[in-house]
Amino acid sequence: MSFVIAIDGPAASGKGTLARRLAAHYGLPHLDTGLLYRATACALLDEGLPLDDVEAAVAAARSLSLVDFDEGRLRAREMGEAASVVAAIPAVRAALIDMQRSFAARTEGAVLDGRDIGTVICPEAKLKIFVTAAPETRATRRALELARAGEDADYAAILEDVRKRDARDSDRSAAPLKPAADAVTLDTTDLDIEGAFAAALTMAQQKIGGK
Ligand code: DC
Repeated sequence: MSFVIAIDGPAASGKGTLARRLAAHYGLPHLDTGLLYRATACALLDEGLPLDDVEAAVAAARSLSLVDFDEGRLRAREMGEAASVVAAIPAVRAALIDMQRSFAARTEGAVLDGRDIGTVICPEAKLKIFVTAAPETRATRRALELARAGEDADYAAILEDVRKRDARDSDRSAAPLKPAADAVTLDTTDLDIEGAFAAALTMAQQKIGGK
């Protein structure tokens, strides 16, 4: 059976960095599923359509192509917020399932990160990690990231953003953010990237007996 790693967690928890590190370590392809929701929201905004236009959002989700994402633009703060809105639409989530599952079905395996990978997309994943960190820590990390990229980094606004997204992603009825019953939780509040990666590798070894 192929080696699928599912990484879930709230905004700015460090799950993306961890997923990329694990993918590189095990030589597996990586899919940041947040980009799918961001690209869907971006398509609506580009057409001047409201984010609650279900028909247009589903059409945009169905026509996504993994290869032509403008990551720089999709990773902007407002796009995360807009993505969280379209991600609460059940029909949009349904439209994106096949693309994620076929990515996970590659023979060698894959690493996917998002909110519902362990619960909905890949319930059979060999390793499921639920990455968390205190909201204040996540806001500080995001502010540093933005400042480094030369962008506006107002800590208070970012913290509010983090809390708002946590609430929207956790309280929605369609595939809410929550750990799978068989997920291991990794709290990165007091860990740097190396510490989080080392902890994740230990978890991987315990689950799969090393590789
Ligand atoms: O991981 P991210 O910040 O790029 O995700 C942006 C938004 O997309 C997030 O607030 C909720 C949504 N999302 C989701 O609902 N399910 C996923 N698997 C990934 C992201």
